[in-house]
Amino acid sequence: MNNAYYLGLDAEYVMGTYGRLPVAISHGKNATVYDCDGRKYIDFTSGIGVNSLGLCDEGWTAAVTEQLGKFAHMSNYYVAPKMAELARELTAATGMSKVFFCNSGAEANEGAIKLARKYSRDKYGFGKPGNTRATIITLKNSFHGRTITTLAATGQDKFHVDFAPYTEGFKYVEPNDIDALKEAMTPDVCGLMIEIIQGEGGVNFLRGAYLRDVEELCREHDIALIVDEVQTGIGRTGRFLTCQNYGIEPDIVTVAKGLGGGLPIGAFMCNDKFATVLGPGDHGSTFGGNPAACAGALEVVRRVKDQAFLRSVRDKGEYLRARIKDMNIPIVREVRGLGLMTGVEIDGDPREYVKKCCEMGLLILSAGSNVLRFLPPLTITYDELDAGLKILEAVLGGSQRCEK
Ligand SMILES: Cc1ncc(COP(=O)(O)O)c(C=O)c1O
Repeated sequence: MNNAYYLGLDAEYVMGTYGRLPVAISHGKNATVYDCDGRKYIDFTSGIGVNSLGLCDEGWTAAVTEQLGKFAHMSNYYVAPKMAELARELTAATGMSKVFFCNSGAEANEGAIKLARKYSRDKYGFGKPGNTRATIITLKNSFHGRTITTLAATGQDKFHVDFAPYTEGFKYVEPNDIDALKEAMTPDVCGLMIEIIQGEGGVNFLRGAYLRDVEELCREHDIALIVDEVQTGIGRTGRFLTCQNYGIEPDIVTVAKGLGGGLPIGAFMCNDKFATVLGPGDHGSTFGGNPAACAGALEVVRRVKDQAFLRSVRDKGEYLRARIKDMNIPIVREVRGLGLMTGVEIDGDPREYVKKCCEMGLLILSAGSNVLRFLPPLTITYDELDAGLKILEAVLGGSQRCEK
């Protein structure tokens, strides 16, 4: 069966919610992928930041397979050893105290929002006359997920149209504007949720000085500081968490994507202050912390937290950005990034270039309205980087076609 066959099935039977490229994936190894026509691609997407260890990593596959040979799922009424071990590894790598496991980034953010609100309710008595301390501030241009609540949390008007009514209790401020944030800190606020680098929004950075002011302001007002590291976490930017690049200590951190290395898993983690806020019955998930996903995640976390591994992520990111800058491509306005998260701002519609790259054998992402986004596997080799960059240069810079 070839691409055309599966594309036909997809068009006929799968809900048309995705702007698909005309490729059906067959298999791959690390950052090299093959489609169902046998065509080869270099992967600068890692399944949108998911395949941290690339495709078919031997250690990861063995860990998942071993767990599948024991049991794939029971329920959260019983302890799953891999979940317990994973929680220990995550707290050690992040300095957090407790972890709740779920299945996706949106769910992790939903949980974080619940935790922030419950903390405030317990401490300040939400619902008492004159007290409605339940509002979460988020930043304009952010992205926090696709459930009704995380769409409401997302600070982009275009996501607040088609599915009203949305969850109440969110307000939005300009990123990197501490005065705007101070003004928004009204008595109804219980939390602030931020992405340190806005991924979907265009690989836009929050400034270090702003982040430190944010942390101080949250402490001063006893506001839960939630950092959404769904895209930036688990080694993506060359530290285990991106907040560790800036020395800030959130109350709650959410992760997903790269945590599982290819299987669906998400988590929200919190510090001591929030550790006992949620008790029995307050939150739950049938599949959350699925043992096979936890076994894969355990392999990811053990490998990624290693300092030499993290250094290699930083080095490869520097190399990638330096090579792109050296290309001197006229349509490239800016190259920005940290570790293996990079945005290349261009003149023109990035989706057109995503399509052309795909035709020429490079899988790449867009973000915002004018950014090409690079989220390769953390294990991508320099040869794979070079092969992908050659295609990128041909697409952005000129005319030359690449071999099939
Ligand atoms: C920062 C951020 N938060 C949340 C999400 C939602 O994650 P998921 O698609 O796993 O629900 C995403 C997805 O792109 C994201 O980038």
